[in-house]
Amino acid sequence: MVDEQRTSIHGQWSGRMAFILAATGSAVGLGNIWKFPYIAGENGGGAFVLIYLLCIAVIGIPIMMAEVMLGRRGRQSPINTMATLAAENGRPAIWAGLGWMGVIAGFLILSYYSVIAGWALSYVFRAASGMFEGVTSDGVSSIFGQLVSDPEKLLAWHTIFMVATMVVVARGVQHGLEKTVRFLMPLLFLLLLILVFYAATTGAFLEGLSFLFSPDFSKITRGSILTAMGHAFFTLSLGMGAIMVYGSYLPKDTSIAKTSIIIAAADTVVALLAGMVIFPIVFANGLEPGSGPGLIFKTLPIAFGQMEAGILIGTMFFALLVFAAWSSAISLIEPAVAWLVENRGMNRIYASVWVGIVTWLMGIVTALSFNVWAFEFEFAGEKKTAGMFDVLDIATANIMLPLGGLMIAIFAGWLMYQQSSKDELNMTESGYNLWLFLVRFITPFAVMIVFLNVIGVLKFE
Ligand code: PHE
Repeated sequence: MVDEQRTSIHGQWSGRMAFILAATGSAVGLGNIWKFPYIAGENGGGAFVLIYLLCIAVIGIPIMMAEVMLGRRGRQSPINTMATLAAENGRPAIWAGLGWMGVIAGFLILSYYSVIAGWALSYVFRAASGMFEGVTSDGVSSIFGQLVSDPEKLLAWHTIFMVATMVVVARGVQHGLEKTVRFLMPLLFLLLLILVFYAATTGAFLEGLSFLFSPDFSKITRGSILTAMGHAFFTLSLGMGAIMVYGSYLPKDTSIAKTSIIIAAADTVVALLAGMVIFPIVFANGLEPGSGPGLIFKTLPIAFGQMEAGILIGTMFFALLVFAAWSSAISLIEPAVAWLVENRGMNRIYASVWVGIVTWLMGIVTALSFNVWAFEFEFAGEKKTAGMFDVLDIATANIMLPLGGLMIAIFAGWLMYQQSSKDELNMTESGYNLWLFLVRFITPFAVMIVFLNVIGVLKFE
């Protein structure tokens, strides 16, 4: 038993609020506004949303607490944190592999995340130029089609977004990461509320809400259960070390349980608001809810084109979406950057540039997957059309993140000295016992059942 009081060489958040903002900045991103609506649309709505909410509550929150707890205990990059904690708890050094898997997942996710963020970035300028004024649903579809079929444009926007991400990461914990999110998150929330009011005037508000909230379990497939669970990890930034590394900068006296619940709640509210905006517009304009990754880009411009001050609101909306993506992107590469600084003696600037270049190169694959390299395949009964983008998305969100989360739960719940986790979480006896019960019994089994279900060993369809 060791009672370690480590400090992080990378600095610390200025306080509890800074951590909440940064972690919420990581959690709230394209996952909430771009991905959640389109996967909810593809998977039939209500029942999928219910499973996703359940996963947030019983899998997401306990794992978030575990991940922050491990990070703060280890106070290093996830790779070194896991190595240190494994040694401290008498476990094999192979646990550092959890950190490595996270670093790889981070690269893979950011490589496509940046391309999608590039779409949002290009839409800032499209909105500002008045291109959406009075546009029809066919018009927006063709505007979107022109963008994704042009590899040059996609690469250019991807490049701009990656450079912006590297700049913030290079500046470091307090200056770079923290300042970026302080004002932007509340503003994004406000704009979403304005859009919900607009959605209420489309005449299809109730239809949209009922699509999103009334569960029809006949629409659920094995693949959609996995997608819902994978998305719970993705949207909360769990399972790859982003939240762990942010936890390693957390001051000692901050309550991990309270902050985790606040972050998960904020993230969920943003996703649900986005859904409440998108689906009424989808139904009011006779669009297809299952139209895939382009969904928000094919629906929101119609709203901006019709509403009062649509140019301003549309421009601001896409700009804020880019910022939300930005504050998530920085957390995707922070684990790798922290490791390079710790183990390779690089300064943050070099480390960020290296990581950025590798990610940028990998992003080319995604940029081309929507046009010249597009191919179709089927996964768990669902048709995928954007080749490598879909492969990357499934491999990371649906497989690597839940696997990482499973290992985090096992380590925190079963392999770490209880005295250490208790001390770090610093909760009431009953709160701690509930958490321990969840990470020991509920979370790992839930993840395993969903995995086994999808590979067809168990069948719950
Ligand atoms: N949570 C982010 C989003 O919803 C994506 C992300 C995943 C960020 C994993 C960090 C780690 O957009």
